[in-house]
Amino acid sequence: MSYMRIIERIKEMEDISRKVKNKGKKVGLVPTMGALHEGHFRLIDVAKKHTDFVVVSIFVNPLQFGVSEDLRAYPRDVHNDAKLLKKKGIDILFAPLGNEMYPEGYDAYVELPMLSSVLCGARRPGHFKGVCTVVCKLFNIVIPDIAVFGEKDAQQLIIIKKMVKDLNLGIKILTAPTTRESDGVAISSRNIYLSSQERRDAPVIYQSLILAKKLIEKGERDTKKIKEKMRVIISSKLTARVDYMDIVKKKDLKQISFLESEVLIAVAVWFGKTRLIDNITLQIPEI
Ligand code: PAF
Repeated sequence: MSYMRIIERIKEMEDISRKVKNKGKKVGLVPTMGALHEGHFRLIDVAKKHTDFVVVSIFVNPLQFGVSEDLRAYPRDVHNDAKLLKKKGIDILFAPLGNEMYPEGYDAYVELPMLSSVLCGARRPGHFKGVCTVVCKLFNIVIPDIAVFGEKDAQQLIIIKKMVKDLNLGIKILTAPTTRESDGVAISSRNIYLSSQERRDAPVIYQSLILAKKLIEKGERDTKKIKEKMRVIISSKLTARVDYMDIVKKKDLKQISFLESEVLIAVAVWFGKTRLIDNITLQIPEI
């Protein structure tokens, strides 16, 4: 087991990162909100593979939760997370204190209004402004060469890549595929909120995505028809309520009626009070 340090102060984190980089080492960052699971460990594996010094941040970012959302209820267990991270052999657990990240009078925000106005952004106003602001701050504090994000949060990933490009942040963004349970459910910190019936119904999200993939493979290109069939299968589960289901161009997240090039099929479904998201990316062959 390697030696992992827990850092809570921004200044200390900045000093360590500078020292490590001055020695010519590559720094990797995996930003998280804790409640770590297999999905996070796959991100850490990517960071370990591509860098010499891995920092995992844990910060439940109040800015990205809406007023009616689950900030207080969001699962927190930093002690258990720290134990798991030690076993993973990372170098630093950076767990900044809330008042360090957003001291009184804090007034700087990062926003990508176009990409944030659709899909999850349309349902969660301000969410991506909160994500971009905290990720930008973490980038400035940790100064990573590489940062790793999961493909499960497809819109977040696209927005962060664009933020890095537009603001010339010079950080390479790497990704890891969505980690799934054996029945296809995407692993998420929010799955623990599901009742046993909701958990039994949850695989329907991935089933709807697989159905879409199969229809496309058979030559269907009309997004309305694909979405109708996805909706039917999701609605067959009593506990499921579709929040949104969209097929968009991956490049700019714009809606399309006829499939072409690279597309993102993204779904958000409510099970009781729990909202789960999932997606697949498809390269559409020309016919
Ligand atoms: O994906 C998450 O867990 C969060 O949105 C992130 C990137 C850690 C920012 O708070």
